[in-house]
Amino acid sequence: PPRQRLLVVANRLPVSAVRRSEDSWSLEISAGGLVSALLGVKEFEARWIGWAGVNVPDEIGQKSLTKALAEKRCIPVFLDEEIVHQYYNGYCNNILWPLFHYLGLPQEDRLATTKSFQSQFAAYKKANQMFAEVVNGNYEEGDVVWCHDYHLMFLPECLKRHNSSMKVGWFLHTPFPSSEIHRTLPSRSELLKAVLAADLVGFHTYDYARHFVSACTRILGLEGTPEGVEDDQGRLTRVAAFPIGIDSERFVRALEVPQVQDHIKELKERFAGRKVMLGVDRLDMIKGIPQKILAFEKFLEENPKWCEKVVLLQIAVPTRTDVQEYQKLTSQVHEIVGRINGKFGSLTAVPIHHLDRSLDFHALCAVYAVTDVALVTSLRDGMNLVSYEFVACQDAKKGVLILSEFAGAAQSLGAGALLVNPWNITEVAASIGKALNMSDEEREKRHRLNFAHVTTHTAQEWAETFVSELNDTVVEAQLRI
Ligand code: UDP
Ligand code: G6P
Repeated sequence: PPRQRLLVVANRLPVSAVRRSEDSWSLEISAGGLVSALLGVKEFEARWIGWAGVNVPDEIGQKSLTKALAEKRCIPVFLDEEIVHQYYNGYCNNILWPLFHYLGLPQEDRLATTKSFQSQFAAYKKANQMFAEVVNGNYEEGDVVWCHDYHLMFLPECLKRHNSSMKVGWFLHTPFPSSEIHRTLPSRSELLKAVLAADLVGFHTYDYARHFVSACTRILGLEGTPEGVEDDQGRLTRVAAFPIGIDSERFVRALEVPQVQDHIKELKERFAGRKVMLGVDRLDMIKGIPQKILAFEKFLEENPKWCEKVVLLQIAVPTRTDVQEYQKLTSQVHEIVGRINGKFGSLTAVPIHHLDRSLDFHALCAVYAVTDVALVTSLRDGMNLVSYEFVACQDAKKGVLILSEFAGAAQSLGAGALLVNPWNITEVAASIGKALNMSDEEREKRHRLNFAHVTTHTAQEWAETFVSELNDTVVEAQLRI
């Protein structure tokens, strides 16, 4: 049978475009967990619809980029600068992102009446409508349309209004916060209602799904059932948890590539005599990077004999650099790193290697493989795939994962990792000590548990489960009528 066609709609395409001339483009893999996971999904006839991360005002550019993207099965949505400013930088990344991660609303936007909130929300709806138009133009009967993330909460409603028989699923890659947090959002009801237009709504964890259902019952007064949310006419929106995974084989295989092995050898020589601790994060306030570095400082203060024997490698991938909060975070992190390196560094070595850049896939695998202790200290995180990728690359070394209890991954890797409260600097510092001193036996036992999870709960399986649940949900809904 022909494979089912899947239209994957996400703000961010798996490749971002850089313009080389009037009509030529180079395409680079985009960073972030959403793209990584979806790249691991193979067994579908998939098309991607999304934004290529670049402003293309002219027709020649739009045509040539559309052609270049088509080779990657990608279809662009062109957003102009003003929309990107108000929708992406504004509503998505300055309002929804921090709110969904429990960082609250920006103070000046707290009132729904402020001009900026209103115009950002209007731009958000407009952008969602632009995505819907591209979907409608590429839709064929029988396709499954899978919408992703907080950027596109209006999309299910836009799509269903146009064609009520379209199969529409929506998946959130961030936490969905407690209804007490969601309540503070001026547009709380409109957003919930728009998402409920989907046939199936998915989250990483059962807690996020439960929070969403209680937001719908408390804020909209609808009925929550074990299956999902029911409206006044008895129409059900199915709500469930689908924990994401990675393409673990891709990482395991990469470690065999000669180029990666050379890189591993180089890194081992560079850090000989020192234990390597690793952080890999987009430079985002939810990742708890300052907290992580302060905990490392405390560990060095309390354990001066370790100063010459441990290094913290922090890969901080620049992200959303036009948003002011992200700019502030960058300078804050630089300041702390500088201070600590000044205090504990010697003529020959510094304790923290901080890189403001991304690594290519092979370099990243090599870094994961040589690490003794990975530090994931997110203040909140939907899942956190870095923790999964680290585990996948550690079958030789069996290093320790220190993991925030506020990352979705704590629910799946909790048995093997050392769980910490990232706000508790003393506790994280103590866990660093525990991890560095852990016996081989305990490390192996913990690693085995994590490795078994990461290699059996893959991205492919995640996508198959979601799509088959969506197909079933639509069939069941037809039977109910
Ligand atoms: N990543 C990347 N470039 C880098 C470093 C990391 O693309 O230089 C990837 C990493 O491999 C992982 C993703 O970015 O797949 C981060 O996903 P995660 O779920 O940990 O967090 P997110 O960035 O989505 O918040
Ligand atoms: C998180 C979000 C994704 C997003 C990624 C990178 O993983 O859930 O939707 O793509 O961060 O952020 P960016 O703003 O660059 O797309």
